[in-house]
Amino acid sequence: MSEKILVIGANGQIGSELVIALRKQHGGQQVIASDINKPVDAIKDSGPFEFANVLDKEALQCLFQKHQPTQVYLLAAILSAIGEQKPKLAWDLNMNGLINVLDLAVEFKTSKVFWPSSIAVFGPHSPRQNTPQYCIMDPNTVYGFSKLAGERWCEYYHTKYGLDVRSIRYPGLISWKAAPGGGTTDYAIHIFYEALKNGTYQSFLSAGTKLPMMYMEDAIRATLQLMEAPAERISIRSSYNLGGISFTPEALANEIKQHIPEFTISYADHDPRQAIADSWPQSVDDSQAEQDWDWKLEYDLPRMTADMLKNLKNTLNL
Ligand code: SER
Repeated sequence: MSEKILVIGANGQIGSELVIALRKQHGGQQVIASDINKPVDAIKDSGPFEFANVLDKEALQCLFQKHQPTQVYLLAAILSAIGEQKPKLAWDLNMNGLINVLDLAVEFKTSKVFWPSSIAVFGPHSPRQNTPQYCIMDPNTVYGFSKLAGERWCEYYHTKYGLDVRSIRYPGLISWKAAPGGGTTDYAIHIFYEALKNGTYQSFLSAGTKLPMMYMEDAIRATLQLMEAPAERISIRSSYNLGGISFTPEALANEIKQHIPEFTISYADHDPRQAIADSWPQSVDDSQAEQDWDWKLEYDLPRMTADMLKNLKNTLNL
């Protein structure tokens, strides 16, 4: 049976790359991109696009009715840093958007749903090294506890309604095609732009702030791999830990210096994102993903850095 795939929040950092990857796999017409904002050309020109606000359940229902999707990817969200500026909106979008989609997926018998969670579900009392799949979770950002509550809803819909919902706790995602979405890990993208354009960068996180990160190539591959795995191999219906590469701003700057020797980095004195970063894991144990759907990372720090610089140089015409 051919798939009909609906991607909600298609214009964001993950969506803009995932839509293209899904269209390559399934054909342009089979993948409906939707977002509250106008799409970029790469999405508009490669297949159907629909405007939709995930909080408008009636409009969303029309979309399900019209396209009868077999798979839905819900990517619309407010991330950690912006979520602290707009806590009620973040809760509303991250929570009610998810519940709307889960309800419609049950109503329209959608075969599979993907929803992203995050390392932000962990908090100050979670173990920070090699953070296990199951441990104390006391997230203290609205983004983090909306993702944790969302994970509980996903598992609940699986248990109660048999919905095949799958999820990944992404580390900070590093990419060059679309701008990052207002998170705590965004420094690891800004640094590349500034290194290439100005040769210097002021990091809003301190030199030694270690966080798990992942190159978008790996994140997209992980997402497709999880969605293609046979249902009986999916033992986790909340969300899978994914580890990626753990590094500090200082280590990333040193890696960039391998390519741009004159690059310099400085560090901001106070930034509200520092406290968020300090409450998150430094590294994550993803052995369950390895065991259940053969997950394996491909991009380490040197490979990711080289690829980012090469692609961004082209994009920025440098
Ligand atoms: N990258 C996200 C953020 O920083 C974490 O999921 O908010």
